[in-house]
Amino acid sequence: MDLKSQIDQNCIPKHVAVIMDGNGRWASKQGLKRVLGHQKGVESVRQTVEAAAEIGVKALTLYAFSTENWKRPQYEVDTLMTLLVKSLKNELETLQKNNIRLQAIGRLEQLPKKARKQLLEVIDQTKDNDHMILTLALNYGAKEEIVNAVKCISKKIVNNELKAEEIDEKVINNHLYTFTLPVVDFLIRTSGEKRISNFLLWQIAYAELYFTDVLWPDFRKKDFYEAILNYQSRERRFGKTSEQIESSSK
Ligand code: IPE
Ligand code: IPE
Ligand code: MG
Repeated sequence: MDLKSQIDQNCIPKHVAVIMDGNGRWASKQGLKRVLGHQKGVESVRQTVEAAAEIGVKALTLYAFSTENWKRPQYEVDTLMTLLVKSLKNELETLQKNNIRLQAIGRLEQLPKKARKQLLEVIDQTKDNDHMILTLALNYGAKEEIVNAVKCISKKIVNNELKAEEIDEKVINNHLYTFTLPVVDFLIRTSGEKRISNFLLWQIAYAELYFTDVLWPDFRKKDFYEAILNYQSRERRFGKTSEQIESSSK
């Protein structure tokens, strides 16, 4: 039986987040320039987006560029930004065909003008799609996101729009870039690294974590399904006991 047909339709994670890692190593391994790894990774993005939409994931968030990635060689940063513009243009068709809405999180105003313009165009062109929401994390850093939330909340307090006592988890959540999204159920990181690298710190509080050695340019639909099957084999307890979970599912 193929992997996809083994997936339990009643237990699909609502929100899947992916740290797409290993492009550089994929290229170096075959004596190619790092940027060719990024180019190759575009096909993996397409496969992952389609696989997620096909099984009914409601929200897919992809880490495409971190606030720390500006520290890379200028040539690599420029290539990544050019690739972003090109891919957004090329993938619009896939998004429309699969009824997927695009959005982006991060400090988008610091992206090169061309990239921002193309991004806003595709966001606008897909705004009525409602099968799945695809979020690109671009110039995204979870710590920056939290700093930004604290600033917004503080301003509201100063302006008497909010009282300090009223701050709760909901208020904080509503001031994060991801405020419209459900919490992350499942986080995948490729390439064998086992770290979070400043991605969605608040949102992954109770996410199931999955690390695979597959390098991002090699990641295909079957790898996504394999990850989902692994997710479905786990028991999410949220602090309760196994017995409690079992009796409530009966
Ligand atoms: C992920 O692949 C892509 C980005 C971070 C933009 P890397 O470029 O980090 O690949 P490795 O980790 O160097 O192999
Ligand atoms: C994380 O990957 C960022 C993205 C995938 C966009 P990195 O390759 O930048 O992470 P570190 O620096 O190895 O932790
Ligand atoms: Mg990396």
